Amino acid sequence: MKGLILSGGKGTRLRPLTYTSAKQLVPVANKPVLFYAIETLVEAGIRDIGIIVGDTKDEIIAAVGKGDRWDINITYIPQEAPLGLAHAVKIAEDFLGDNRFVMYLGDNMIEESIRPLVEEFSTGDSTYQCQILLKQVPNPESYGVAELDPSNLEKVVRLVEKPREPQSDLALVGIYMFDHHIFEAVNNIKPSWRNELEITDAIQYLVDKGYNVRPKIVKGWWVDTGKQADMLEVNRLILDRVERKVEGVVDRDSSVNGKVIVAKTAEIINSVVRGPAIIGEHCRVVNSYIGPFTSINHHCTITDSEIEHSIILENSQVLDISGRIEDSLIGRNVVVEKSPIKPKAYKFLLGDNSKVGILC
Ligand code: G1P
Repeated sequence: MKGLILSGGKGTRLRPLTYTSAKQLVPVANKPVLFYAIETLVEAGIRDIGIIVGDTKDEIIAAVGKGDRWDINITYIPQEAPLGLAHAVKIAEDFLGDNRFVMYLGDNMIEESIRPLVEEFSTGDSTYQCQILLKQVPNPESYGVAELDPSNLEKVVRLVEKPREPQSDLALVGIYMFDHHIFEAVNNIKPSWRNELEITDAIQYLVDKGYNVRPKIVKGWWVDTGKQADMLEVNRLILDRVERKVEGVVDRDSSVNGKVIVAKTAEIINSVVRGPAIIGEHCRVVNSYIGPFTSINHHCTITDSEIEHSIILENSQVLDISGRIEDSLIGRNVVVEKSPIKPKAYKFLLGDNSKVGILC
């Protein structure tokens, strides 16, 4: 089987971070979201992966490369505009050929291995042309929704993209398995109201034509990392399963408790780090408290401050902040510091679509 990862899109809900960087490269526990997608496919035995790229193509290629890191082959497939998930399948036809494949939305993260599902779909039972993953969610109107036959839960009856009044709470997870019949479908559907070729409509086409679409309900967690709250949630879930590994300098006045990763070149001075947390290479944490579910990427400096349940990207500094920072997603090269210069006032230089919460 081959893999097809979609890594285009504008990431509007993660602005301002996504003005300068692809949403799929925002790190979770200091590793880009996209790497988790690649690793999920590699773990399922897939070694030939196509990545659909858009405006952020150069940055994605620079981060991922040819696949040597995972000992796999990566082919980049440029999509000239975000014309929909089914359009991405269309332009990948040459790469996919007659192979069965897994299509994986590069901003999705899933707890479970998909290996058993890939094995089941790739071998033996070729009576299925498509396999979809579903997850019960409290807000199905935000996703593609599947309705199953009440008398046969193995049978998909209807799929609707972001319905106003969902008839089911089963959301389409952004991981799909297809055989070549999907090309017939993507070539026969029409663009939706948002002018995109929807993969949901393409799967409905398969159902309507009498092809076999098998639903699989996912038990573990699934997160579509499009928004700040989702990023923090998945950061919490991933950090929760890290193993303690303290390799950097921790001085005698510091304590590092629980599941904490301190990279080799990081320094913890007169500080408390309470895990699960990760402190990246070349970070300096001085006179500070780093609380649970915090990821600090490389080359950051934290002094005289307290941070918890947050993600901080590389080269950023948090200096001498008296209130605790929580639930925050801080970008690259950011400085958050006490302002000693009079007048005593808040002083900001914020990008478009920034969000700041201030203690009253
Ligand atoms: C897309 C699909 C939707 C699916 C979701 C999963 O939505 O269109 O059916 O449930 O991914 O992440 P989008 O991210 O384009 O809003």
